[in-house]
This record gives sequence, structure tokens and C-alpha cells, in this order.
Amino acid sequence: MAFLEINKINIDYVTEDGVVEAVNDIDLSLKEGESLGLVGETGAGKTTLAKCIMRILPERTARINSGEIFYKGTDLLKLEPEKMREIRGSEIAMIFQDPMTALNPVLTVGEQIAEAVQNHQKVDDAEAMKKAEEMLELVGIPAARSSEYPHQFSGGMRQRVVIAIALACNPKLLIADEPTTALDVTIQAQVLEMIQKLRTQMKSSLILITHDLGLVAQNCESVAVIYAGEIVEYGTVHDIFKDMKHPYTVGLFTSIPKINEDVKRLTPIPGNTPDPVHLPKGCKFCTRCAYATEKCQNEHPELYQSSEGHFVRCFLKGQGGEKYGKQ
Ligand SMILES: Nc1ncnc2c1ncn2[C@@H]1O[C@H](COP(=O)(O)OP(=O)(O)OP(=O)(O)O)[C@@H](O)[C@H]1O
Ligand SMILES: [Mg+2]
Repeated sequence: MAFLEINKINIDYVTEDGVVEAVNDIDLSLKEGESLGLVGETGAGKTTLAKCIMRILPERTARINSGEIFYKGTDLLKLEPEKMREIRGSEIAMIFQDPMTALNPVLTVGEQIAEAVQNHQKVDDAEAMKKAEEMLELVGIPAARSSEYPHQFSGGMRQRVVIAIALACNPKLLIADEPTTALDVTIQAQVLEMIQKLRTQMKSSLILITHDLGLVAQNCESVAVIYAGEIVEYGTVHDIFKDMKHPYTVGLFTSIPKINEDVKRLTPIPGNTPDPVHLPKGCKFCTRCAYATEKCQNEHPELYQSSEGHFVRCFLKGQGGEKYGKQ
């Protein structure tokens, strides 16, 4: 069994406006040391899936309808809350989208990293603080700043502190949810470089959540493209970049801004993601797809294997590799 194996996870949010189908039958697996990119537009369900792995979904609204998440052979969804708490942070850690909300404003950054260390290792305060200072240095912040508070740091530095907290216990699996979205481009590159460096040192696996296929190309070995809570394309970064199949993946890819190109050449995918309370009954992308046929509107495509390890949820590209085009 794989290091992490997600089977048919299905998650809804029950809201006043109706039931939001946030994650729909997602299957994924990850090998030890592997890095997987989860890509998709806003609202695709990426954070929901990550929170489900961490078991930190809001209990009052989120409903896990079905599925299993095997981590080293144990179904996390069946673990006692106490056992799960042990795993969180020591084995599996998550870097959240917004560094400010992830930090406690009334504790120094040193105290927060030390606290993360002590949650999972039996060390005294002095030793925990020493480890915290080492972690700060590792993420490029002088140890002397451990007695400062989050508001005394810039956005990029705060995100490094969040990374230091997440990595303080050598997690075997790191989930980084848009770790660099709030940062400017140079800092983005530095933070990712740091995640990669630490990951290699600690031999951790990585799930990198992002809107940006370019970031995935640079940092991941495999990629799952998610649209409206479903995987629409999945494979190695190499295979997908060589031969991307799903019209949504192609749209995402061609909308990556290229530094040397005129901005007018951007081709964002027209239209919006469908209302998650009323998803189309056929292919969920059909409302935005230039190639959609009547079949696409009425029938829901499965995830076809187009070649070894490369999967695509599309009637036109998945089944027998037909060409796009109105039938
Ligand atoms: N606590 C919640 N209550 C109700 N609906 C929610 C809640 N959290 C997320 N949703 C809805 O679930 C769907 C998936 O949201 P999610 O945050 O997982 O998307 P995402 O892919 O992480 O998006 P983003 O790229 O903007 O972070 C969206 O339609 C969102 O509005
Ligand atoms: Mg998110």
C-alpha cells in the first residue's frame, strides 16, 4: 500500500443556501518522498481535501460522506481524535494559506515554534527554544529574532515562521496550501526553494496546493488537476506537460503569465466555475468547454486511463484518444 492513499473521498458542506458538493470521489496516492501538486481554480475543493487529510474540517458544516485516507496503512478517518492529534504536526503538517491567521499574535515566534516542538517531543523549555532557534536559522531568520512577535515580521518572513513551525517536528508529509500566494514573486521563489531544501533534508513527501501550474512544474513530480471537486487530469508532471489532455488543464496552462510576453496574450479560461450547490449533471466543465457535445452535457465522464499513469476525465480525450471537436 502506498504511503498515502486516498480512496473515493466525498465531502459536502451543509449551508443555508444548500449542500455544497466540495469534494467528489477523489482518489489519490502518494509515495514516500514524492511531491504532488494539487492545482485548480478558486473553490475547486483543494483546501477542503487537505483539511480532511488533517481531520480539521469544521465539524458543524462539513460532512464526509464516504471514503478512506490510508496513511502508512492506517485509515486516518477512523483514528481516535487523540491519536490523530499525535499524528498532526509530528507526522503530517500543514502550512496554511494565510500566514497571519496561522500565527498567534500574543506569543513570540520562538515560543510558537518551541510549542510545536514540545507538542511532539519530550524536551524541556530550554531545549525546545534551542530547537526553535535552529529552525529559525534554517528558514533564514536570525535566531536573535526569536523573541519578536509576528507583527514585527514582514509577510514573507511570517510565512517562513509558519514553515519553521510546520517543519519543527520533521513531518513525513507536508501539505503546503498556497504557501506563497500572499508573497511577492522573488520571496515566492525563496520560500519554495526553502521548502524543497528542507524536504530533501528530511525526506518528506509534499502536497503542494496552488493555482499555478508553473509552480507545480518546478516543484512536483506528479500533478492532480481539480475542477469542481473532481480530478480531471492526473499523472506525472513530465507526462502532463508533454501531452496535456483535458481542455481545462490546457486552459490553466495557457493562462500562466509568461514574464517576457505581452499581457494581452494571456488566455484565461472563459466563464466561471459552476455553482457548487447546482453542479452540471454531465461533465462539470461542459459549461466552459469549447468542445462540449450533447453527451458531455448529459453524461458524467469517468477518469479514463489514457496511457500508463496518465488519467483524464474527458469523453473526447480520454476514450481512445479521439481528437477534440464537435461530434
Ligand atoms: N466552511 C465552509 N462552509 C461552507 N462552504 C465551504 C466552506 N469551506 C469551503 N466551502 C466551499 O467549498 C468549496 C471548496 O472550497 P475550498 O476552500 O476547498 O476550495 P479551494 O480549492 O481551496 O479554493 P481556493 O483556491 O480559493 O483556496 C467552495 O465552493 C467553497 O465555497
Ligand atoms: Mg484553498
